[in-house]
Amino acid sequence: MKNSFSAPGKIILFGEHAVVYGKPAIAIPVSGMRASAWSEPGEGKLTINALDLNQKISLENKTSQFSVLAQTLLSKTKQSEPNLTINLTSKLPQGSGMGSSAATSTAVCKALSNYLGVDLEKNQISELVFDAEKIVHGTPSGIDNTVVAYESPVYFVKGQEPVTFDSGRTFYLVIGDTGIESSTKETVGNVRDLLDKDPNLMNGYFDEIENVTMGGKKAIEDGDKEAVGELMNKNHELLNKIGVGHRELEKLVDVSLDAGALGAKLTGGGGGGNMVALADSAKEQKEICEKITEAGYRAYQTTFGED
Ligand code: MEV
Repeated sequence: MKNSFSAPGKIILFGEHAVVYGKPAIAIPVSGMRASAWSEPGEGKLTINALDLNQKISLENKTSQFSVLAQTLLSKTKQSEPNLTINLTSKLPQGSGMGSSAATSTAVCKALSNYLGVDLEKNQISELVFDAEKIVHGTPSGIDNTVVAYESPVYFVKGQEPVTFDSGRTFYLVIGDTGIESSTKETVGNVRDLLDKDPNLMNGYFDEIENVTMGGKKAIEDGDKEAVGELMNKNHELLNKIGVGHRELEKLVDVSLDAGALGAKLTGGGGGGNMVALADSAKEQKEICEKITEAGYRAYQTTFGED
């Protein structure tokens, strides 16, 4: 029987982009949507077989996140290239803000370390995936690899140990996909250009996002869903101000709010990708999901926190 390893996607609830500049952010894993990897005997060398992309990646490919990851793991553990094929598949749409690159790297990391007989702690997986993320995202904050490798909600500040926290209740979320692939490297680069042009204005927005995120953490801990929703709306406005919005994201936000969502915002890099909306209850979560689907978009339901 094949030994399969998997990793979840993620959603950022508060603080994306500002987190690149040292501000806090809050992210949750999306455990129902995962990347999976399993190994089988190789054809003379190490190959990552990305089944969804129909691509076979070898260790020499220095521009691939997977070869960077494998090379780093092999050098750190002083092992030579194994004769191994790692098959990889993912339910996470690429370029959607759901952490597809961190999830696929994490799944590959788990499959390869298992084959090599190396027992990695979550923080070690997270660090290895962070190096690979640089290939995809340029200057990542580290939030994606952290939430995906730890698979628990995190309050994250770059360069600090991630903090897990308790939720005061179950939160019902709907994720809506614009279907527009967007590069996080590009949106992060665009934000950096704006910051270079007008540091006062942009730093002011980052400060406001920081306040929203801190308020968001408290509201989640208090189980105050109305406050979480309002802060999500505020965070969305600020993300539009820093230039990472998209008209399709606006449509998804409008559909969700019209369907009764307590709040809605883009999530992740923006410029396309996904939106996340907060529903009042499981019943409303289903209704919002249906309205998004009726409007012609893909939608998923996910929850976090305990009652
Ligand atoms: C991407 O999921 C989140 C960003 O804040 C980039 C990063 O933190 O590396 C946009």
